Amino acid sequence: MYIPKIIIVKNEVEVGKIVSAEIINLINNNPKCVLGFATGSSPLTTYVALVEDYKKNQTDWNQVTTFNLDEYLDLTIDNHNSYAWFMHNNLFNHINVNVKQIHIPQSIGDVNTAAEKYETMIDNAGGIDLQILGIGVNGHIGFNEPPTDKNTLTHIVDLTPSTINRNARFFTKNDLQPTKAITMGIASILKAKKIILIAIGETKSEIMKKFLTTTKPWPDLPVSWLLEHNNVTVVMDMHAAEAWLTREDNT
Ligand code: F6R
Repeated sequence: MYIPKIIIVKNEVEVGKIVSAEIINLINNNPKCVLGFATGSSPLTTYVALVEDYKKNQTDWNQVTTFNLDEYLDLTIDNHNSYAWFMHNNLFNHINVNVKQIHIPQSIGDVNTAAEKYETMIDNAGGIDLQILGIGVNGHIGFNEPPTDKNTLTHIVDLTPSTINRNARFFTKNDLQPTKAITMGIASILKAKKIILIAIGETKSEIMKKFLTTTKPWPDLPVSWLLEHNNVTVVMDMHAAEAWLTREDNT
């Protein structure tokens, strides 16, 4: 078991500054790096900071390869609830990344074969140098819902009621909210050379305490598998860190 490096900052803007600086540094040192991206609210300030950096410094994304963690089944890229739409609108459309080097799990058609191919594509690209993660209030990473074993590769999942309810905030009442998704597995995530887990806001406070006080990885807390990786950094704002910082045994 390894202990993650923990960085606590004032607010979500500061989280974005820290995480974007890591990404920019990696691109500058290794222009052909492979980045793993997440969607949702957690990485948003990071993407805002990356777009600002691109406008100001023209960091060159042209040779960078990207792999996204997950996608809802049956949503096409033009659906504003798809993670493909999210990534293009919040990041890819605003930087000079080569569209041929963007990968988002295929969510339409033969998704089981597509899942297998996704793993091969990651391996053929040389593996992910830096994987960005958020965390669900139930401890999921990617869409690896509890319980999830350590050996899972990219696969199709049924989303839990907890995740469906929490993500309902992104859908209007006329939108069809998917209940299934395709996600990189725990083993796929653990293959990344470095991982940054972002947690923002008080809704993440209890799960972060649970994660950071766990002594042994177990399937009911998918995020706990990160304790088996030797290069994990957790970046949280003060609200997400609150329960962990004020726990009773914190001497
Ligand atoms: C999204 C993903 C999910 C989210 C998690 C937290 O690509 O992989 O694991 O990171 O559900 O979502 P937010 O950031 O919206 O709280």
